[in-house]
Amino acid sequence: MEIVYKVSEMQRISEKHRINGDTIVCVPTMGYFHEGHLNLMRIAKNYGNIVIVTLFVNPTQFGPNEDYERYPRNFQRDKELAQLVGIDYLFAPSVEEMYPNGYFNNVKAAKFANKLEGVKRPGHFDGVATVVTKLFNATKPHYAIFGQKDFQQTLVIKQLIQDLLFDIKMVVVPTVRENNGLALSSRNAYLSPDEKEKATTIFKSIAKGIEAIANGEKKKQSIEDYVKHSLLSVPGINIDYVCAVESDTFNEPEEFVHGQKVAILVAVYIGKTRLIDNAIATIL
Ligand code: PAJ
Repeated sequence: MEIVYKVSEMQRISEKHRINGDTIVCVPTMGYFHEGHLNLMRIAKNYGNIVIVTLFVNPTQFGPNEDYERYPRNFQRDKELAQLVGIDYLFAPSVEEMYPNGYFNNVKAAKFANKLEGVKRPGHFDGVATVVTKLFNATKPHYAIFGQKDFQQTLVIKQLIQDLLFDIKMVVVPTVRENNGLALSSRNAYLSPDEKEKATTIFKSIAKGIEAIANGEKKKQSIEDYVKHSLLSVPGINIDYVCAVESDTFNEPEEFVHGQKVAILVAVYIGKTRLIDNAIATIL
């Protein structure tokens, strides 16, 4: 595995591989790897012969009162884990390297960016769309791999690829969870053991909504109420939002119809830590 710090060097390497006829697969990350990230890297290998993992904690997708400074980082450990998975390149640029001119021209994310995470974290998806555009231009991939864990992000990036004519195929990989259902997340590192136990309620609560759908429930409000009721049963969990949307369009009809795919999206605070999760079910 080779570690690359410079954009120009990454572009040169990627260009060389493209000329060789290789297939490049990019896995964008902010590091502090867990099994969710490692799974994306392993799956990446199935789509091409050159896997580039990007590791960059992107300042422009964090709000002024968010956790950019304290976001967990451990480059040494990340390097070792990526090496064990057997990726080809770890692209780890500095902030100065990625934003040498500050932040003048940026990508404005629209459509899926104006709801839920986009409302709660103003500017977040502009930051994501901008950095993903830059990472695509640095790594020149044929495929890019993302996790369903950040479901709204996958829709924003899918739209970005379509609107800006990126010649890149996007692959979305299911969420990796602990045995107790907790979705793996770098931010789980903020949780005390007691908070971590509480956090298992998130997926259990989403499962209540999924169960309701499996029992024939179609009303958006009722589906959300099952989830909220379960979350509220545990003290110390503060709901940021619980929302059932049509999974391809993010539309929110009062009542879903047979065959529609519904995403149940949840954001909560446990102490100071903000966690998100989701699952998708088909209406009977
Ligand atoms: P980060 O939170 O590090 O996540 C990197 C990728 O790993 C994302 O595609 C995310 O959805 C995926 N991922 C995280 N936890 C997962 C889990 N438990 N199971 C499966 N996949 C999981 O998402 C970002 O970074 C950034 O916004 C980024 C796209 C890199 C732009 O800065």
